[in-house]
Amino acid sequence: MKLPRAAAYATLLILAGCQSNHSMLWSSASKQASDIEWLYWFIFWICLVVFVLVIAFFAGGLAKSNVDEEEMAPVLESTDPGDRRAKVGVSIALGITVVTLFVVLGLSIVTGKTTEGLTSKNPITIEVTGHQWWWELRYPNSQADLTVLSANEIHIPVGKPIVVLTASRDVIHSFWAPNIDGKRDLLPGYQSAFTFQIDKPGIYHGQCAEFCGEQHAHMGFEIIAQTMDEFQNWLNQQRKPAVEPQDAKAVHGRDVFLTHSCVLCHTIRGTDAGSRVGPDLTHVASRRLLAATAISNAPGSLAGWITDPQRIKPGVLMPANPLAPADLDALVTYLRSLQ
Ligand code: CUA
Repeated sequence: MKLPRAAAYATLLILAGCQSNHSMLWSSASKQASDIEWLYWFIFWICLVVFVLVIAFFAGGLAKSNVDEEEMAPVLESTDPGDRRAKVGVSIALGITVVTLFVVLGLSIVTGKTTEGLTSKNPITIEVTGHQWWWELRYPNSQADLTVLSANEIHIPVGKPIVVLTASRDVIHSFWAPNIDGKRDLLPGYQSAFTFQIDKPGIYHGQCAEFCGEQHAHMGFEIIAQTMDEFQNWLNQQRKPAVEPQDAKAVHGRDVFLTHSCVLCHTIRGTDAGSRVGPDLTHVASRRLLAATAISNAPGSLAGWITDPQRIKPGVLMPANPLAPADLDALVTYLRSLQ
């Protein structure tokens, strides 16, 4: 009775990994990801069959073998009809191997081409720029004031082709959301593009997949796939300048922002802060997570991040900001109002 129970637990454990928002198996959310997953399983089953056959032949050979350990090494040139049969067997196996390899190569090329295709009409374009260690996002528009700038949280409508234009500001990064598409390298000084379309609404996690320095592991992002209406509402909201602070504390918070080092790196549209070194904070309160998904966007973690980001992401460009408690409180209140 113990073995079936162990097997049931093992199955449960394996299934627990299914339907994850960061997995290339069992939970593809786009055609690109399902093409890649299909190729994965195709190669997986071939490998499994080859493995089982090799083990079976070894086991069969071992069972039949009655070679004495003392016996000399077998003579290579032989006229034994059994050896000739073995040669034919090996030749057939070699032939099947070569054909299989070419089939896999062909399918890999076809999958690469189909996931690459930029044939879609009327796509939504998003520019993604990698920084150590966050993702700058830009939804360009021919009217400059309708262009949206954001960071780390990519909103897209479902059922609509998305073209992502990639670039890097410093080193090589790699954009990888396993439920959506394969890995795409972001190279400094080189712009490239890829396309995908998500069919299932949801929140999908992505991660930088190319070692890019100390905080590579904390360079995550989220793709929020929503209905066209929800997406359009989000876009319209993001296009607006920052809300005016409503009370004295938030007004003080804005003053703290504009008179301390924050202003040297960040933009808040509608204020004098216009630097592009760090993420645009015009609508920072609307994001689910902070610091490239390293921490939640809650008052406590925001205050901790402002005070000592080096504690959360050692090596990050943002310096510590030892503010007086009242100033920090006001600054957090102001930033939390930036929906
Ligand atoms: Cu960016 Cu690793």
